[in-house]
Amino acid sequence: MEVVIAPAEELAVHAADAIETLLRRDPATVLGLATGSSPLKVYDELARRHREEGLSFEQARGFMLDEYVGLPAEHPQRYRNVIETEIASRVEWPADQVLGPDGLAEDLPAACAAYEQAIKDAGGVDLQILGIGTDGHIAFNEPGSSLASRTRIKTLTHQTRVDNARFFDDDVEQVPTHCLTQGLGTIMEARHLVLLATGRGKAEAVHQLVEGPISAMWPGTVMQMHPHATVLVDDAAASRLQLGDYYRQTFASKPGWQGL
Ligand code: GLP
Repeated sequence: MEVVIAPAEELAVHAADAIETLLRRDPATVLGLATGSSPLKVYDELARRHREEGLSFEQARGFMLDEYVGLPAEHPQRYRNVIETEIASRVEWPADQVLGPDGLAEDLPAACAAYEQAIKDAGGVDLQILGIGTDGHIAFNEPGSSLASRTRIKTLTHQTRVDNARFFDDDVEQVPTHCLTQGLGTIMEARHLVLLATGRGKAEAVHQLVEGPISAMWPGTVMQMHPHATVLVDDAAASRLQLGDYYRQTFASKPGWQGL
């Protein structure tokens, strides 16, 4: 696992560089998309590169991590709409090339199975962008999630609903109680995992993710088993890392051509 500690703007550039490298090498790259505030600066940087430098998403495909169950199709917080607003529309990404689990399906387990199949049919995810919840969840894999789980229905914890209430007029009652989420086993099949975390509120989750024992209680710790995982954090999110100085020194002495 590589840990990069830098200001948020710099982290976004590193993530965008990794994505651009893939897209220039293979325009039909498959990207894994996350919602939440953590990836927003990355999406801003990709939109800038699309606008000013012609970075194209025309042939790329995108798979979202998760979706709320039951939010109406036009609801602005439905993750499919969030992704459309924050990234897809800004880079002129053809709508049918960006998929998410269908939180409005009548048969939710069938929708989960279909989603797994769609990812497989696309050849798997090349680079998966991730954030992390304060309780250590990635996507919506809450504490206790099987480390081998696949796309399925999950019940959100009260903590996650409180955290996400800021997107629902600060009213926790408006936050859905259930979601569909890629499982930890699904996420682990992506070829490169790039997780972003900023702010002191994420410091304990980041410490556990990087340095804690692998445990379903901190679902992000499964990333320690991934052969190519990058953790991009600012000083505040890195503040509880025991080996912070070592990670800083390692990245500072990394040859420039190596990339993430
Ligand atoms: C949500 C999303 C996750 C995200 C997490 C952190 O629950 N389902 O994918 O990583 O929250 O969100 P934020 O980046 O806003 O802190």
